[in-house]
Amino acid sequence: MDDPAFAVETDLTTQSLLLAAANHDIPALRNLLRNSSANVQDRETGFTPLHAAIAACEPDEPSQPAAQVNGHTNGETNGASGGESEERKQELEAAVKTTRLLFENGAIWNDLDSNGETPGCIARRLGLSELYELCVDAGVRAELLLSRLDEYQPLGEEASDEDDEEDEIPEGYEDKEIPEDEDDDYVYDFDGRTEPEGDASTRNPNYLTSTLTFDRNRILDDSANGVMMEWETKLMRRSAELLTPTEGLRVLNVGHGMGIIDGIFQERNPKSHHIIEAHPDVLKRMKDQGWYEKPGVVVHEGRWQDIVPRLIEKGEMFDAVYFDTFAEEYKALREFFTESVIGLLDPAGGSNKDGGKFGFFNGMGADQQVCYDVYNKIVEIDLFEAGFDTEWETVPVPDLDAQGGWEGVRRKYWVLDRYKLPTCSFIS
Ligand SMILES: C[S@@+](CC[C@H](N)C(=O)[O-])C[C@H]1O[C@@H](n2cnc3c(N)ncnc32)[C@H](O)[C@@H]1O
Repeated sequence: MDDPAFAVETDLTTQSLLLAAANHDIPALRNLLRNSSANVQDRETGFTPLHAAIAACEPDEPSQPAAQVNGHTNGETNGASGGESEERKQELEAAVKTTRLLFENGAIWNDLDSNGETPGCIARRLGLSELYELCVDAGVRAELLLSRLDEYQPLGEEASDEDDEEDEIPEGYEDKEIPEDEDDDYVYDFDGRTEPEGDASTRNPNYLTSTLTFDRNRILDDSANGVMMEWETKLMRRSAELLTPTEGLRVLNVGHGMGIIDGIFQERNPKSHHIIEAHPDVLKRMKDQGWYEKPGVVVHEGRWQDIVPRLIEKGEMFDAVYFDTFAEEYKALREFFTESVIGLLDPAGGSNKDGGKFGFFNGMGADQQVCYDVYNKIVEIDLFEAGFDTEWETVPVPDLDAQGGWEGVRRKYWVLDRYKLPTCSFIS
């Protein structure tokens, strides 16, 4: 049974930490952090000391407009206008110091308060750009470290059978059920369209055995997860244009979905056009729509994890490679670009005079701006480590809610007004 005296003491410590953080009282905070963690949360508001430190910068007078951060900056730092008072400047400096101290003491960048906001979300809402960037950078550090630890295997320790089986899918996709509680190793492991944590329906083996519904403007799986939606056409078109600037190229697309990007690649008269697709319902639809008979089109039935090694063995090379699967972890995308693209993409680019190009659907963390910014930095770092330069283009996204786009969809996988479109080529 819980010890009530202990509970009171814990609560007192939490309140003291929150108060010291909100007051940007560094000496008091330092003192408290000697014996307690920076990761406490107020039971009612869900505030952590980080939330408190940042929220305390909300100006008293609502007349002061919040400067937009992240791509919308108006040149001001930390949401303070050029004519800000000395007092305000000092307050913001103190908030920056407090935030740094909390991160140095292990504060978690993405805890949610009871409004569903991370500390970064609050900083963004209040236009506090320096505080926002501190949150993003802390997120990048934390997630990179976690992903590296995830890869870490002590010397001499063999990979266990369990590890080997983790992503395996038995012949014919018979393995239907994966209990949710096995789903415990998410770090930043989601492809964007799927649930970041704990939803077994969005794991690749379960998805591949689910029945799909094809509407005019979307594909849903049998748990009403949005597999692909028509609003993404603009993004697909722009990627196809950047990947295939001329006709007559050799193209590989991983994940057919609604066939949007494949349709656009076809308009660009590729010399050859390979498509890898794993879902039996999508494959059936491709047959019905005549994809197998199109000149130059080669459909590979199965998961890319099984197909790509065969393509590489056969020495197939491409001028453009696009990757957009579903219900796969970020790890899968990273594995694709670190291990597969190098064997598939022609560095000379064949007839693509600028060299082979690689693109992918960039939707990780797109249900929160701060997460999107963190994951964009992470993917850029990972791409660079894998030998790619990435060019980003910002594409505006319309208000999908206003268009009723999410009706009947289990979870909005996109809430942002801008998409960052990546086009990668080998570092020269
Ligand atoms: C989001 S859709 C692709 C949409 C496509 N870019 C378009 O323009 O319509 C993802 C596709 O990847 C397929 N897929 C999922 N996992 C896969 C895997 N491991 N290997 C190959 N295809 C996979 C899905 O069945 C689905 O058709």
